[in-house]
Amino acid sequence: MTDQRPITILCLASEFKGVPFIEECARQGARVILLTAEKYGDKAWPWDSIAQHHNMPNLHTQPNITHAVSYLARGNDIDRVVALDDYDVATAATLREHLRLPGLGETQARYFRDKLGMRTQAAANGIRVPAFTPVFNYDQLRDYMASVPAPWVLKPRFEAGAVGIRKLHDSEGVWRALDELGDEQSFYLLEQFVPGDVYHVDALVWGGKPVFAVSSRYGAPPLSVTQGGGIFNTRLLPRDSDEFHATTGMAGDIFRAFRLERGVTHTEFIRAHHDGQFYFLETAARVGGAHIDRMVEAATGIELWREAARIELADIRGEAYRLPEHREAYAGLIICLAREQWPDLSAYDEPEIVWRVPREYHAGLLVASDDPERVGQLLDQYNERYARDFLMHAPNRKQARTTF
Ligand SMILES: Nc1ncnc2c1ncn2[C@@H]1O[C@H](COP(=O)(O)OP(=O)(O)O)[C@@H](O)[C@H]1O
Ligand SMILES: [Mg+2]
Repeated sequence: MTDQRPITILCLASEFKGVPFIEECARQGARVILLTAEKYGDKAWPWDSIAQHHNMPNLHTQPNITHAVSYLARGNDIDRVVALDDYDVATAATLREHLRLPGLGETQARYFRDKLGMRTQAAANGIRVPAFTPVFNYDQLRDYMASVPAPWVLKPRFEAGAVGIRKLHDSEGVWRALDELGDEQSFYLLEQFVPGDVYHVDALVWGGKPVFAVSSRYGAPPLSVTQGGGIFNTRLLPRDSDEFHATTGMAGDIFRAFRLERGVTHTEFIRAHHDGQFYFLETAARVGGAHIDRMVEAATGIELWREAARIELADIRGEAYRLPEHREAYAGLIICLAREQWPDLSAYDEPEIVWRVPREYHAGLLVASDDPERVGQLLDQYNERYARDFLMHAPNRKQARTTF
């Protein structure tokens, strides 16, 4: 920048996330205004990197948030609004529209937040999705259930972390569920349950194209982990595998269909058991949860949060973004809820273990290796040992809030 005015970035944080994003902004001389939901206001935020901090009871009640941010804008020349949590993506879009700032606007943010929005936009662009229907018109709903074989999932359009998803086996069950939902029902969609393996692509986008992408496969599908209380695991896939090419290629198609110019993304697919094809599951304009950022960093050295900041700042300055030199190794994560507050993982001592999840009632390990097969072997082995050593069979809902 030729002028001396510092760049000002407003970060919305409904959760404690995105510390490296804030640090990178500050490192590059930008001023960060952090707006947190009260509950997370006193977390270990990088205070030295933050010019101003404000709390609100929550960051989505309107018109409060628009009033508050407009008030901040009186004394701060805000260049960008950034969502640190998935639940902030829509609010950030509304604020950008209000302040007329660049970045995802409301229509586009819907493709990344509204599960019905992402289905219709993907399908309209020829991307394979599970057969779905909105919950608006009952004739349409009846036709859908008559022509698309059950089971189906009734899914909230605006949640994450498999919250509120119900698997239903007949139309009777669907009508009953809709009855219970009452006026909330139009905030759901119904789609075919596609049994298969779930994959995720974690990518950085610049100039409308992925400039960095890794593809990974979850062990048990996230729905069975969150609702059945199983073991979460995921691993990077070999870069020369068919799965890697298919999923990263499809992710690129999605970014084009959703007109995403830049930023960090987490996109999921199901590879159906019945036909081996990949179906688009969902995408998010954010860093993947459940420590996936650490896994990507262990394998490649790329810090997604930090690159997200570099991308944003490069765009503001009208400069080109360049992905740093990085490794092309592999990593995997395994996490489960544990019976004990601080489970003893000392018997897990392979040299490939590079990090342990520092969270009570969680047993979590991150492994890394140049060899994807070694990562797979370790995870498979740990999966069995975890079942014996830690697994808590009745899922504890209070502690089980993990977003993938
Ligand atoms: N159509 C579907 N077929 C099979 N499993 C599904 C389907 N939709 C969702 N799931 C399961 O539910 C999980 C969460 O659904 P997803 O659409 O990714 O929402 P969330 O934002 O809650 O992660 C998926 O990872 C998968 O295990
Ligand atoms: Mg998901």
